[in-house]
Amino acid sequence: MPEPTIRLAVEGTTAVVTVDRPKALNALNTTTLEQLEEALTGLAGRPELRGLILTGAGEKAFVAGADIAEMVGLTTEQALAFSARGHRVFDALERLSFPTLAAVNGFALGGGCELALACDLIYAAENARFGLPEVSLGIIPGFGGTQRLTRAVGRARAKELIFTGDMIDAAKAKEIGLALDVLPAAKLLDHCRAVIDRIAKKGPLAVARAKRVIADGADGSLADGNELERAAFAELFQSTDRKEGMAAFLEKRQAAFRGV
Ligand code: CAA
Repeated sequence: MPEPTIRLAVEGTTAVVTVDRPKALNALNTTTLEQLEEALTGLAGRPELRGLILTGAGEKAFVAGADIAEMVGLTTEQALAFSARGHRVFDALERLSFPTLAAVNGFALGGGCELALACDLIYAAENARFGLPEVSLGIIPGFGGTQRLTRAVGRARAKELIFTGDMIDAAKAKEIGLALDVLPAAKLLDHCRAVIDRIAKKGPLAVARAKRVIADGADGSLADGNELERAAFAELFQSTDRKEGMAAFLEKRQAAFRGV
């Protein structure tokens, strides 16, 4: 049995997944990706969850990238399989029905930055450093960075970061719209928990539908996206939560949502 490199804790309706290989700055090797996939598959089947926080063990790194010591020996075919595995795991993360928050507590480089980009919201500690330094190794991002960074910050900024391999600090990451907010490291996880607590008070079906419509509509035309929105908006009118939410507003009380 390989050593566990992913820690999972469920605190009420919030799951916390910690990449735990601090000696390698939480770099992602095949074992870590497998264990992350297994953890995400388990979480996808838990209807009580309202949010996930993803972070890195230790005080230095979120995730310092794919594991270079493993990649050094890969053939072309193995590199293709490694990239495909990363894509599959990160796609599974992106498709979770509830919101996912990256708590970036240090280096988020290469595959680490790509992991954060597969989350819905990125919050950064003051010591966070972001970058896609793959060109320094003679390769390009292989876990979705060329695609998700471009969609997150626009082509020109993405090209600048990917072509130069430069690292940027948390303030710059916020300035370009990569990180939403910058927090003292000691407050980062509590900030993320508080965001999920705010979301957890809302209708979970509505939050899940909003997430899906945003994802499914993001790469298409406005007309196609609006069609998805109309269908999901109307579908929610069948839900008990919709009736409860509107009744609670009219009766001037807190809604008690049940996710149905
Ligand atoms: N893979 C494997 N091991 C890594 C690693 C990585 N991505 N990043 C750090 N480590 C290891 C180091 O080898 C070192 O191990 P030893 O103590 O056994 O020597 C340990 O973590 C601590 O790292 P450093 O001594 O280098 O720490 P530092 O403070 O001097 O530097 C750093 C920190 C700037 C993050 C530096 O470690 C670094 O540049 N790491 C590599 C970052 C990188 O290039 N990431 C992209 C990888 S490629 C990729 O991710 C491809 C893809 O898209 C799929």
